[in-house]
Amino acid sequence: MSANNAQEIKQQVQSFYNRIGWQEVSEGVYQNARFEDLRPVSSEYIHRCHIRAGTFLAKTGHYLLDAGSGPIQYPEYLLYSEDYDYRVCVDISPVALFEARRRIGTNGLYVVADVSALPFTGNIFDGVISLHTLHHLPESNQQDGYLELWRVLAPGKQAVVVNGWTDAPLMRRYDWLVRIATCLMNRMRHRKVDPNTTHSGEKSMGNPKEPVSTYVQKFTPERLKQMIGEHIPYEIRCWRSVSVRFLRAVIHPKLAGRLILRLLYRLEEVFPYYFGVVGQYPLIILKKSG
Ligand SMILES: C[S@@+](CC[C@H](N)C(=O)[O-])C[C@H]1O[C@@H](n2cnc3c(N)ncnc32)[C@H](O)[C@@H]1O
Repeated sequence: MSANNAQEIKQQVQSFYNRIGWQEVSEGVYQNARFEDLRPVSSEYIHRCHIRAGTFLAKTGHYLLDAGSGPIQYPEYLLYSEDYDYRVCVDISPVALFEARRRIGTNGLYVVADVSALPFTGNIFDGVISLHTLHHLPESNQQDGYLELWRVLAPGKQAVVVNGWTDAPLMRRYDWLVRIATCLMNRMRHRKVDPNTTHSGEKSMGNPKEPVSTYVQKFTPERLKQMIGEHIPYEIRCWRSVSVRFLRAVIHPKLAGRLILRLLYRLEEVFPYYFGVVGQYPLIILKKSG
């Protein structure tokens, strides 16, 4: 991929988040939340997974780097930097940073920059978190993204990265279940469909002519190892093993949905590596020795 292509992809991603992804569709809810399962039946599981990400960061420090912060859209995200002096929010979308500033004001420092070329000196952040962002980097830049997070991390500290795997084995194995559940749901849906309601039952967000997503390049665990294994000591654990598609199709309040998710969460805690590798979303911990 040429440098021009890479630059074009970044501009496209930036424009998507400025114009669409970070447009508020209702109080505190952004268009980007259409990629999440916001139903009450899944909320406890999702809440616990958000909390889980923070448990691998140093609890206190001077600077926490949030690389690709977006608007700090979920309340749990605020907890990561609660006991830091400053949360340094980096994003290529100025709209994201305006929104982030609405949430944390003077506890934040806001920098429009590319996560694969961070404008900071090395070894300065007591904690680094990057959620659902590195997969937006052009393929040729993703290694730089990881190396940059590692470079700016202080010795003895950890960085937490969450991205999705491509073709996660667990989701592949249960694809039949998702298909059957989706088919049954569609058949049972006799009610007249509100034109503003999508098939998953959510209110449609934004103009239907607008693009609903942007460039994403995900990897397998093997590719990640090739990319950063020689350079950075890292550990894979589970952030969340099931996809939003799986949640929406299979998890329902009348079918013991909450209980199933409690059991799943327990399993993820007992077998974090297994669920991290086969599940949908790994939590990748970069460790810098002291
Ligand atoms: C899916 S959103 C995730 C936001 C937030 N971390 C969260 O979990 O809600 C991805 C964010 O990464 C930002 N982003 C994408 N590519 C970037 C890059 N090369 N440098 C900095 N930020 C980038 C986007 O503007 C967007 O705000």
